[in-house]
Amino acid sequence: MIRPWLWLPARVSHALSGLGIEAAAWFNLESRISQNIEWQPLNWKGLQFKNPLGTAGGLDKNAEHVEAWQKLGAGFIEIGTVTPLPQKGNPGTVIDRNLKQLAVWNKLGFPSKGSDYVLNQIQKLTHKTPLFVNIGKNRNTSIENAGDDYVFLTEKFRKVADALVVNISSPNTPGLRNLAQVTNLEGWLGRVIQTAGSTPVLLKLSPDMEPQDFKETVLLSVREGISGFILTNTTLSRTPDLSFPIEGGVSGLPLKQKSLLALDQVQSILGSQRSSLLIISCGGVMTADDVFDRLKKGADLVQTYSALIFNGPGFLKDVARIWKMLNPRKLD
Ligand SMILES: Cc1cc2nc3c(=O)[nH]c(=O)nc-3n(C[C@H](O)[C@H](O)[C@H](O)COP(=O)(O)O)c2cc1C
Repeated sequence: MIRPWLWLPARVSHALSGLGIEAAAWFNLESRISQNIEWQPLNWKGLQFKNPLGTAGGLDKNAEHVEAWQKLGAGFIEIGTVTPLPQKGNPGTVIDRNLKQLAVWNKLGFPSKGSDYVLNQIQKLTHKTPLFVNIGKNRNTSIENAGDDYVFLTEKFRKVADALVVNISSPNTPGLRNLAQVTNLEGWLGRVIQTAGSTPVLLKLSPDMEPQDFKETVLLSVREGISGFILTNTTLSRTPDLSFPIEGGVSGLPLKQKSLLALDQVQSILGSQRSSLLIISCGGVMTADDVFDRLKKGADLVQTYSALIFNGPGFLKDVARIWKMLNPRKLD
């Protein structure tokens, strides 16, 4: 398959990606898509997921391509990270990729058009696919006041989001990952969950946490009433064959083992408490086999970002097609 966006420098192809997604959705024949996007439905808290493969946080930061992702066959769509106020991303080179290692590096740092803009975007939609809103603090908000940003965003989006994703795991906002320590989280996570009311709140965690910290954070979140986890965000670790800068997060194939480990860890920590929680596996899901493997290993849903960069937006539909070949009787 020809993938012309891979001939362009990463930053150019990233800048053009919105256009590409809209074009892909436009050119794809509706009939061809709708035949195979319903492949393994899931009902959770009244939400209908026609298939378990969704788009990860960061792909559509300002909710500008929701309908296109829906047409392209996403089982659910996560928009954001949205910050309370508009802010620019980090300066300089902020995105790169390694075609051989199937790795993506970014230090975008939450460029966001802000919560007013994103709320307005969502209010214009007539979406049917479950929509998750990923929220994060502004860069200039201190760690001590971070909880107020998350409560503000929860209040703002709880009525339009099918679920909220609390992002405390991006490596590109200084201090953000410290929020995952229980001493920093216990002051405000409960407030977020209470403010959300009946809207489920999920926590997106880093793959770089020490096992004991990971365990304490998971258990605290459950005590506070969290509805599930997204595992994981990008990693600060580097395999020897990668020459990306030391700052910034890596995603794609090099993240796969860490993400699998987190999926395993969370289930053994939760034990019998796992059942009603939604576990979403994200990180290094590069092929259809990876998607099926995450489901087999206990994930309720799966997300991808990097596979869409390397394979293009047709990846979602390709997975559905392969599922159909493997499980002909499970589809109508
Ligand atoms: C360019 C880029 C931007 C991202 N932006 C966000 C973001 O704004 N919020 C977030 O929670 N995750 C963000 N992520 C992380 C992804 O949602 C995902 O957790 C990570 O890329 C691992 O999945 P993958 O291996 O399928 O790419 C971003 C990832 C990339 C590559």
